[in-house]
Amino acid sequence: MTTRASRVPPAPRVLLACGSATAIALATTLVTTSAANAAPADYEAENALVSNGVVESNHPGYSGSGFVNYDNETGGYVEWTVPSGAAGPTDLTFRFANGTAANRKMDITVDGTLVVDDHAFPGTGAWTNWQTTTVKANLSAGAKVRATAVTADGGPNVDKLTVAATDAEAPQAPPNLRSTGKTHNSVSLAWDAASDNLGVTGYDIYQHGQLEKSVGAVLATTVDGLDADTTYDWTVFAKDAAGNISPASNAVQVKTDPAPPDAQSPTVPGTLSSPGRTATTVDLAWGASTDNVKVTGYDIFRDGVQSGSADGAATTATVGGLTTGQSYKFRVRARDAAGNVSGFGNEITVTPAGGGPAGVPDPGTVTQIGGGTDIAWGLGFLPDGSAIITERETFNIYRLTESGTRTPLGKVPGAMGTTGEGGALGVEISPTFATDGFVYVYHTASGGNQLVRAKLTGNQLSGWTTLLGGVPKSKYHNGGRLRFSPDGKYLFISTGDAQNGSNAQNLNNNAGKILRIHPDGTIPADNPFPGKAIWSYGHRNVQGLDFDSKGRLWSSEFGNSSQDEVNLITKGGNYGWPGCEGTSGTCSGTIAPKKTWSTSSASPSGLTIINDHVFVATTVGQRVYRLRIDGNSNLVEQKAYFQGTYNRLRTVEVDRDGDIWLTTTTDKDGVAGNDRVLHIDIRYANGRTG
Ligand code: GCU
Ligand code: CA
Repeated sequence: MTTRASRVPPAPRVLLACGSATAIALATTLVTTSAANAAPADYEAENALVSNGVVESNHPGYSGSGFVNYDNETGGYVEWTVPSGAAGPTDLTFRFANGTAANRKMDITVDGTLVVDDHAFPGTGAWTNWQTTTVKANLSAGAKVRATAVTADGGPNVDKLTVAATDAEAPQAPPNLRSTGKTHNSVSLAWDAASDNLGVTGYDIYQHGQLEKSVGAVLATTVDGLDADTTYDWTVFAKDAAGNISPASNAVQVKTDPAPPDAQSPTVPGTLSSPGRTATTVDLAWGASTDNVKVTGYDIFRDGVQSGSADGAATTATVGGLTTGQSYKFRVRARDAAGNVSGFGNEITVTPAGGGPAGVPDPGTVTQIGGGTDIAWGLGFLPDGSAIITERETFNIYRLTESGTRTPLGKVPGAMGTTGEGGALGVEISPTFATDGFVYVYHTASGGNQLVRAKLTGNQLSGWTTLLGGVPKSKYHNGGRLRFSPDGKYLFISTGDAQNGSNAQNLNNNAGKILRIHPDGTIPADNPFPGKAIWSYGHRNVQGLDFDSKGRLWSSEFGNSSQDEVNLITKGGNYGWPGCEGTSGTCSGTIAPKKTWSTSSASPSGLTIINDHVFVATTVGQRVYRLRIDGNSNLVEQKAYFQGTYNRLRTVEVDRDGDIWLTTTTDKDGVAGNDRVLHIDIRYANGRTG
């Protein structure tokens, strides 16, 4: 966001109706029936106080007797006095037309206090095309709402202000979700109408945390483009016009039918080669196969055993976890959705060796050091090098050593699951653990998601204290990563929007944000929004946070249905959700991601940074991405490791030796206790070790 030291408007020429340049008067014809919870009330611009603008009526489509044409300069304003009844959380909706292509931004103030800086009034296509835009504000009785032009173009033409009490009541959960049909690639669903105080405007159809489809106020839909012979987990949520979202419907599992007969295999992949290698990794490249239906993936075989996979659209892969100097034989084949596989292409023998600029961290030997866990979500290292790990679904916390010794430390009191993404989430170890023994945990509880702290004495966590509570929760989108700043003075918390996108732009709650607090839970005096924990906003669901060598914060964020993000976080920054997803939608005035991926190739959770290389663990993508932060703060030289080798991945953390620990999150099947913790030896090119 932008801030300005001061903006001194020109001396007001105060006008009332009819374009008179001399009349000075205040409007007295205000409607007086508005009140919180009453019907929305309209206030015409031509009846309001106008400074540096004229009332006109030459462009049809306005309401009342005209509209205000702002002078083409900064500082002009329209100010509406809203009667005493309309107090409390309020939606202020401006009706305007802008026949130019320029965004005629205006500052919105209530009683002189800035509510929205540079609110967008974009082009509407023509001076006769009237559109609305809404901002939220807390009104007191008799409030004065002012919209002030901040660009040299002046404001748009403004027709009226509509004032309505903000609807804070979410719909009820849609009842009776059921499957009404299926094929090999589609599932049909139906549900009963959800109730709402004002009315349901639509439904969101989720498949295990991923928004698959949004529909209007209908009670059935068909989702297609699914895989054959696959079990999907469906829930439906009702929405209202204010963006409030209901609790989840009942969940319905549906297995798609087997694929129709398709006996034709893809063609053999084109020539396999190895365009690059390091001490522990080998890059592979091959020619694309073709298929009568579609190539859905490639199987990568190492020494006769399948060791990974690649997307159907990919023709390259990087194999990590290799031993320097040892020779490996690689072959690749293609597959389709019916399970037909092609023959193998040529076999190549590659010996990992050498490798790149100094300090580049490459994944070497992989060792499983923990098993039988239920989604190891949070992972933080103690001074002795062992890790403290939270289990999302059981709420158990344990210590794990690099040699695989597991010691229970307790259970998070009051933790609750959401049969989705809630539960025991992130963990951080106090930077001053040696003296205070503090362990921080973020988890879901009855009143929302919360940050708690306990003291570790021996093998027992005790003295649990809530430091920050009431972060909105939902079945999905609960965020949950914790990270101390490098100086240890601030604890950052990533949250999710609790499936209500409007939370992300609402600075009155902590959902859809990155938060910054002191380790004792107090709010730092230099946070961007005084008295609030919010550090950045406009986030959908952030589950990865870490700092680079310059002390800058990076985050990973789950996209909705198209683009995931990695962001470089700045104080007070607006990252665009829900208007903007990745780089698409209404993104103007918001901070663009440094990297986007399609949600099917990423869906990123944990993020850790080693020597200014960002490692991201992905769930749907089943791989670890590595990207270098270059001198321009761009993310370059992407590599993808372990694709399809260890299933869905949740958390990646660098330990005190410079190696990484990686956890799996195979929750998709609902199979308990089948997750693993892997230790990955990191080799630093040119002999440097971690
Ligand atoms: C035109 C248009 C006005 C508008 C003005 C502007 O003159 O007719 O209604 O206000 O452009 O650019 O502001
Ligand atoms: Ca104008």
